Amino acid sequence: MTHTVVIFGASGDLTSRKLVPALYNLMRSGSLPPDTRIVGFSRTPMTDDQWRASLRETTATHCDCGPLDDSSWNRFASGIHYQPGDIGRPEDFSALEARLTQLEGSGEASRVYYLATAPQFYEPVVSALGAHGMATETHGPRRIVVEKPFGTDLATARALNDHLHTVFRERQVFRIDHYLGKESVQNILALRFANTIFEPIWNRRYIDHVQITVAEEVAVGRRGGYYDTAGVLRDMFQNHLLQLLMVTAMEAPVRFEATAVRNEKVKVLDAIHPLSLAEVAAAGVRGQYRGYRGEPGVPAGSQTATFGAIRLEIDNWRWQGVPFYLRSGKAMSCRTTQIVIGFRQPPLELFAEGRRTFHREANRLVIQIQPAEGIQLHFHTKVPGAGMKLRLTDLEFSYSREFAGRLPEAYEPLLLDVMEGDASLFARADEVEKSWEIIDPFVQAWSGTTMPPIDIYEPGEWGPMTSIDWMAAQGRAWFDQCPVLT
Ligand code: BG6
Repeated sequence: MTHTVVIFGASGDLTSRKLVPALYNLMRSGSLPPDTRIVGFSRTPMTDDQWRASLRETTATHCDCGPLDDSSWNRFASGIHYQPGDIGRPEDFSALEARLTQLEGSGEASRVYYLATAPQFYEPVVSALGAHGMATETHGPRRIVVEKPFGTDLATARALNDHLHTVFRERQVFRIDHYLGKESVQNILALRFANTIFEPIWNRRYIDHVQITVAEEVAVGRRGGYYDTAGVLRDMFQNHLLQLLMVTAMEAPVRFEATAVRNEKVKVLDAIHPLSLAEVAAAGVRGQYRGYRGEPGVPAGSQTATFGAIRLEIDNWRWQGVPFYLRSGKAMSCRTTQIVIGFRQPPLELFAEGRRTFHREANRLVIQIQPAEGIQLHFHTKVPGAGMKLRLTDLEFSYSREFAGRLPEAYEPLLLDVMEGDASLFARADEVEKSWEIIDPFVQAWSGTTMPPIDIYEPGEWGPMTSIDWMAAQGRAWFDQCPVLT
């Protein structure tokens, strides 16, 4: 069987920055099935050769693979084809289908349709694929990849799911969240379910709280027009942060396959304690970096949050009473994605210094997902010398020290999974809808007229002061060491 990856939105940013470099790296490492062709579809008039030449330049910039080697590139480029067309014109889909059939010949071919277009084109592309019989699986599997944003709230996500299901069966639909393709996110599953030592302490008896932080140094830049309608909740929380929460909190699946894994993830979302609108307002803080309103595309009086922190609780036997703090922001002091498991204090403080009340930092496990990947366990050790002076030290695992070579970019394993039909690391329809159910009330509360004006923070800080005060009021502090691993 041969493989075809059809990219809608072929002349866009995602294609040149992520998809094609990922496919190129897969080919170089020998992981891409040898009979794979890439067919680009977009409005820009181009020939095959023109698209190849443009991709050669962009791939050299974005592949993280050093200077492009002529023979590898030429081999890869020979499988690249371009079909100009307009999503709104049925005849262009007929032409696309004819071209695909001609390239694929008479044998079985699996097809992946990748929606790398602006979201308003998702439904028209799906309809057109349906109308032209391009989702039927007579000549091989037909799968569709849908990028984020998957809707803008529960109602639109539902509508999009319903629309997809008029043409594709759920097993053909792959909703991508690139965070699940990150090596160290998948390693959370290995850490938890390939070891016995963590499981006994991975619960409310030993864990005080969990902090999940995705901090970015970059500001909104040229994406102001999109970002102002999304804000940090839609841009980061509904997808990436909730995915990290699910893999941290889920139960062990009975098998490592899509249905079992996704069932366990959905159960986590199902168990999230529902909050009334009034409770939602108290369960989070929001902020906006100074200068955001001057970014291109952002209205002068914008109240959109570029920083957010929320507290969620999971009503199940494992997690009852353990708050999960989710936090993300742009223009923060440092780039990091990390999950901090904050353990409880020992029941008795044996080594207090003097008679004063003593608050030693509790043990923690820090899983750093980026910029460098690895894990650190923080624990106390006796400082050599007289007396019982203690200091926090760590045990560390670092991917770069342990494994030679580059780590695959998130899109690489995910693209391969779609081609193989493995949906374990993709969001299911109910998962996406439940994520919106959780995030919608926060969006509603934060954009409501009863909220006080948004707190402003200086670029380069960890969000507004209110975030620090909010944690302190709950008797906790953010873990703001960054990055923990270099
Ligand atoms: C995207 C968001 O989904 O994720 C961006 O739209 C954000 O705003 C990006 O910058 C972060 O991804 P990563 O992999 O750089 O952490």
